[in-house]
Amino acid sequence: SLAGFPVGVAVNAGFENNSIINSGSSAQQQAVVFPNFNQMTAGNIMKMGYLHPQENTFTFDQADQFISFANANGIEVHGHTLIWHADYQVPSFMTNYSGDFAAMLKNHVQTIVGHFQGRVVSWDVVNEALADDGQATVDNILCSTLFSQRMGHDFIDQSFINARAIDPQVDLFYNDYNIEAGGQKTANLLALVDGMRSRSVPITGVGFQMHVTIDWPNITAIESSLKAIADRGLKVKISELDVSMKSAYTSFTPEAASRQQQRYHEIIAAYLRAVPPAQRAGITVWGVWDADSWINQPGSPDWPLLFDANFQAKPALQGFKDAL
Ligand code: XIL
Repeated sequence: SLAGFPVGVAVNAGFENNSIINSGSSAQQQAVVFPNFNQMTAGNIMKMGYLHPQENTFTFDQADQFISFANANGIEVHGHTLIWHADYQVPSFMTNYSGDFAAMLKNHVQTIVGHFQGRVVSWDVVNEALADDGQATVDNILCSTLFSQRMGHDFIDQSFINARAIDPQVDLFYNDYNIEAGGQKTANLLALVDGMRSRSVPITGVGFQMHVTIDWPNITAIESSLKAIADRGLKVKISELDVSMKSAYTSFTPEAASRQQQRYHEIIAAYLRAVPPAQRAGITVWGVWDADSWINQPGSPDWPLLFDANFQAKPALQGFKDAL
């Protein structure tokens, strides 16, 4: 790639099949994705509720089509995500599961990893398990969820071990938000990772979602958080980057655009300083164009991405590229 490491983008269902998605056509998306990115993440369709709706039913068709299309166009795919406790994502059969929960979760992980073996380069094995600052916790660092309630921190260890047993090659990531901010959650991340490594759990790296704003967190905190993981010899991925503007702007003024350009530039530059080349798992932006962003909502507009509502490159794209 241009960058020497993956530069990725999240896309929504229909990217591969000429759909209209959030007011843009997939042809418009493809025209900006192909020249600028060499990795993709499915924004939703590879989450657990989509892939595994019932105990004995796995639905792989949509994901298979997406991956075939990506690979045929020279774009690799990052898998997101094997385990995430968000309510709308957990299949109801899991919530109510009365059998052997650990065996059920092992089958979930191993069936999915086995199905996509050789066609995804990496997986977010566990998403968002760490407690937010001030939240009630399990084992002092995890949030209380279906998975941590049933299995304690072992749900994380076992899921990495089970994934690795099926696919010896694929990179295995722990993925979370606000872990770049340098507060209690960053300390908890390091405790989690150090514990996993002391137990020889096969973790390849950490995904920093990096849903940041125009002025939070500060760049020093971001750089030292990335470096703390790199210093442990792990790969570092920025997995869901977006730069929210709505805390400071009610419209996307030229001044906002230029500050955003600078913010993208300093984040990419911090990543390059903090992470040695061999440990760069890449940088993925969470959506193609502003109209497509999960944080741009009716009544609460935002302009967090690299392309505008007309698929024109924003100054942010220049900021990103200038840093490479
Ligand atoms: C978001 C998607 O972008 C939305 O379309 C969906 O409604 C909710 O999930 N952290 C994650 C992502 O790990 O999976 C989330 O994606 C954004 C926050």
